[in-house]
Amino acid sequence: MFKYKTDEYQATLLRYFEEEIMGEGYFYGLAEKFPEQHQRQKMIYLARVERYAAESVKPLLKKYNLEARSDCDLHEIGKKDIEKSVSMGWNGFVGYMVERFPEYMPEFKGLEAMAPNEDLVELQILTEHEVAAIEFAKLEKVGDPNSIRPLLAYLERA
Ligand SMILES: [Fe+2]
Repeated sequence: MFKYKTDEYQATLLRYFEEEIMGEGYFYGLAEKFPEQHQRQKMIYLARVERYAAESVKPLLKKYNLEARSDCDLHEIGKKDIEKSVSMGWNGFVGYMVERFPEYMPEFKGLEAMAPNEDLVELQILTEHEVAAIEFAKLEKVGDPNSIRPLLAYLERA
C-alpha cells in the first residue's frame, strides 16, 4: 500500500513537472501569435511563471531519480493547443483562463496531499504559480491595467 502511494506520488510529480514545461512552450508560442504587444508580453510572463514553477520542483525529480522528457519534446507537445487558443481571440482566451485555471487547483492540492512533509516547500511554490495565474486572468478579464502584478510578485518571490 505504501509503495503504491509512493509510486503514484512520484508519477504525478513527474507529470506535473512535464506539464509546466509544456505550458512554458505553449505560452511562448502564444506570445508569437497574439497581435498586440501587451498580449505577447503577458504570455511571456506566464511562460516564465511556468518555468519558475517547474524549476521549483526540479530538486524533487532529482531526489527520486525521475527522468523528464527533454524541454524540446515537451515544448512541442505544449504547442499543439496554440491555434485553438488563439482562435478564441484575446477576450475569449482570457475568459477561458478564468474558467479553466481554477480547475487545476485541486490537482496541485492533491499532489501536496500525497507528498511527504519534507517535499511541501517545493510543492507549495508549484501550487502558488497557479494561484498567481488565476489572479492574473481575473484582473485581465476586468481590464486592470496592472494585471500582471501577481505574475511579477510570483517571479520575484524570495
Ligand atoms: Fe502551470
